[in-house]
Amino acid sequence: MEISPTIFVIFGGAGDLTWRKLIPSLFDLHRDGRMPKQFAIMAVDRAAFRDAQVHKRFLDGVNRFSPKGKAKSTDWKHFSGHVTYQQGDFKEPATYADLEKHCAQLEKEWKLKAGHVFHLATPPAMVGVIPHMLADVGLNRDRARARIVVEKPIGRDVDTARELNRVLTTSFHESQIFRIDHYLGKETVQNMLAFRFANPLFEPIWNRRYVDYVTITVAEEVGIGHRGRYYDQAGALRDMVQNHLMQLLCLMAMEPMVSFTADEIRNKKVDVLHALRPMRTDDVSRCAVRGQYGRGTRNGKTVRGYRAEDDVATRSHTETYAALRLFIDNWRWQGVPFYLRTGKCLPRQWSEVVIHFRPVPHQSFPPDVSHGWYPSRLVLSIQPEEGIVLSFQAKVPGPQMLLRPVEMRFRYRESFALPSPDAYETLLWDVMNNDPTLFMRADQIEAAWRFLMPVLEVWGNSRPRNFPNYAAGTWGPKAADQLIGRDGHAWRTIA
Ligand code: BG6
Repeated sequence: MEISPTIFVIFGGAGDLTWRKLIPSLFDLHRDGRMPKQFAIMAVDRAAFRDAQVHKRFLDGVNRFSPKGKAKSTDWKHFSGHVTYQQGDFKEPATYADLEKHCAQLEKEWKLKAGHVFHLATPPAMVGVIPHMLADVGLNRDRARARIVVEKPIGRDVDTARELNRVLTTSFHESQIFRIDHYLGKETVQNMLAFRFANPLFEPIWNRRYVDYVTITVAEEVGIGHRGRYYDQAGALRDMVQNHLMQLLCLMAMEPMVSFTADEIRNKKVDVLHALRPMRTDDVSRCAVRGQYGRGTRNGKTVRGYRAEDDVATRSHTETYAALRLFIDNWRWQGVPFYLRTGKCLPRQWSEVVIHFRPVPHQSFPPDVSHGWYPSRLVLSIQPEEGIVLSFQAKVPGPQMLLRPVEMRFRYRESFALPSPDAYETLLWDVMNNDPTLFMRADQIEAAWRFLMPVLEVWGNSRPRNFPNYAAGTWGPKAADQLIGRDGHAWRTIA
């Protein structure tokens, strides 16, 4: 599909996100022949750089971070010819006047009206500034062609999210706003829709009659790196659960969509959030667990605890691990517990959704025939392993009746010769194509915050006395195992 000519403006053009993700993804689209025939990329930021300096840094970013490998010099030369840098303060009207002039000039040269994408790769506070400054010079006006892209976090609670959404919709129409949750751009996350709704096989058992419980894990091996200043104000619940884990929950639990249109899919996802059983503040201690990593070992090396990380308060109460137990009150999922967990500095990077099916209604085999028995389960592996594994019982070959769990596996890398694109590559292409399916709508964000508010409130008002409560390099606090263990369930053991 050919995209119409596009001017792609990046606010925060000298920043980390642009270097690591945006430019490598735009370059990958270009080398795959998927950029529009006519395009311009304008990086805008406060620092003084010449185009050549910026090109050098961007090339370094591509060579380090592109999943498609290093750039060929001819490809880079062609691509970088479309990339310019504009020095400008985001709070100064002159920056926007220059930008408007530059865009008008390009359209004059191209002799057409181009799409304008304004990507805010800036600190969150700038979301309160840039949209109305763009509106002041009229760059918001063309509803069909002007789009604004904002990165998470969208607020830090329901009120601030509402306020940000209000600010955005004062200058741009909801259909022009693209809120990124990069998890939605991951191939395996999108594949949950294909798996569920392109195959009739699982739909009849995708409900409370056959599903015992569901676990969603997003485990990270990394700590907080150099993001202490941001992370210490955020914590795992705001940084990961409110967005990435809630997205996985919605895709796993949503009703079938009637058509593959953006609003239809997004409506079905919001329905899940609306059906979440509200948590009362009294329930929080039984339904939510928080943790913070202390000093430990990872890959044989000693790593420091969270409180010793750069830009983190020495007595910080910020959680680096969160687990929740929740219910979806609708016909499909009534009574089925969903357990969510995420944490930093865990033994390995691993994200998965596991559907644990109910045991057989009557166990007709004698107890001694089954070894390591557990009911069937379906694992949707998101990363780093990308695939789907169904485990079930089989007879061990031999004269005796002996049962053992076995696995049926689908692996992306074996079935498709293509490497998965980076999530940003998919998402930026969709923005240029004006397809909002994989982006978050205002109501979805607010609904996710609303559900989490009791936890935020209780955790914000009561200081954990046991932090740090797990050592770096271990699977998180014991209380997270108890949270699920109390119901007679367990997280899947990740080797
Ligand atoms: C980001 C969070 O949204 O997602 C980070 O802010 C986290 O804290 C990252 O590390 C994880 O993304 P991925 O794609 O590596 O799973």
